Amino acid sequence: MRKVITYGTYDLLHYGHVKLLQRAKALGDYLIVALSTDEFNWNEKQKKCYFSYEERKSLLEAIRYVDLVIPEESWEQKISDVKEFKVDTFVIGDDWEGKFDFLKEYCDVVYLPRTPEISTTQIKKDLGKK
Ligand code: CTP
Repeated sequence: MRKVITYGTYDLLHYGHVKLLQRAKALGDYLIVALSTDEFNWNEKQKKCYFSYEERKSLLEAIRYVDLVIPEESWEQKISDVKEFKVDTFVIGDDWEGKFDFLKEYCDVVYLPRTPEISTTQIKKDLGKK
């Protein structure tokens, strides 16, 4: 069984997220999503989520492509996650192109093209205007 892992915040889940997860799952048989905790988002990404970690987690768990959701609590956990879960492929959108090449020593690293136009930031902006 080929295991795939991806990382992200997934706030205000949208079709760009779903398409990323669909393509990630297609790279293997079992998809793990390491979901940024509220503390990690705030402290490290200066992002305040609309939905809490538990809410974002239950939305992801309802998606057919997702097999397991684990917390992302630090930038440094990736190597240990890959080893612990025996991951074959790390995948993430190409807004992170090149940033995680250090994982190539441990697994395949794939950057997928982002779906154009949509993002959580854009949704927040657009709704803020109304
Ligand atoms: N993603 C994507 N296409 C989009 C938006 C996101 O493929 N249009 C991917 C990202 O590249 C990442 C994953 O979905 O691999 C989770 O992204 P996240 O940063 O949580 O979502 P964004 O919508 O980009 O949120 P923000 O605007 O807060 O950066």
